[in-house]
Amino acid sequence: MKVAVVGGTGAFGTALAGRLRDAGYDVVIGSRDATRAAAAAAEIGVEGATNADAARAADLVILATKSDGAIETARELRNAIGATPVLSVAAELRFSPAGVEPTPEATSIAQRLQAELDAPVVAGLHSLAASNLGGDEAPEEDALVCGDDAGAKALALELAGRLTNGVAVDAGPLASARALEGMTAVIVNVNKRYKAHAGLRITGLS
Ligand SMILES: NC(=O)c1ccc[n+]([C@@H]2O[C@H](COP(=O)([O-])OP(=O)(O)OC[C@H]3O[C@@H](n4cnc5c(N)ncnc54)[C@H](OP(=O)(O)O)[C@@H]3O)[C@@H](O)[C@H]2O)c1
Repeated sequence: MKVAVVGGTGAFGTALAGRLRDAGYDVVIGSRDATRAAAAAAEIGVEGATNADAARAADLVILATKSDGAIETARELRNAIGATPVLSVAAELRFSPAGVEPTPEATSIAQRLQAELDAPVVAGLHSLAASNLGGDEAPEEDALVCGDDAGAKALALELAGRLTNGVAVDAGPLASARALEGMTAVIVNVNKRYKAHAGLRITGLS
């Protein structure tokens, strides 16, 4: 299965691409700039392309741009993505003297992406820090995914389950994305307070 990591030249995208390569996925790193994509891709031994070419070639598109650029990127890639399922990992953060906060928008980025695209959008992986994902070993944490489209969610859960040594957890409908996106702020605050590399484990699953 071919996975495009749009905006894959960043810390999260490159860590994710490396982990996906190790899990046996055919990975293409996308960038607004083909040269930047090629350079990032060469470092991890995968393919590089413009975001549009990467999206056109993929069976699953992971939208991993800087969160500020996610909606605009989806708008630009609407035709290239077509009906291919999209996994949004984006979380908007606001930095204040009190700490890191989720933004006050009423809906998640993932729901706003869904409004821009013909493709089914699912959201997940927000609690996996790039530093943990890019380590030598797969991280000891779970990965949560939510979405309304059963087929797209199944693809994302399958992928999530191969990224960590934990469990891929179905966290419900796309409306849960607001909470998952907010979880990034929680984890960043925990990391700062405890000088840690925190992740999530869901207990009580059979
Ligand atoms: N970092 C983490 O630990 C972490 C954890 C969980 C989720 N996430 C999510 O993963 C995503 C990527 O995180 P990151 O830390 O890798 O971000 P990043 O390094 O700030 O950005 C990733 C890539 O986005 C592209 N980009 C930047 N501004 C853009 C714009 N205005 N429009 C379109 N593309 C733009 C750039 O690629 P080109 O210039 O090559 O196009 C950049 O390399 C974010 O949405 C974040 O919320 C991150």
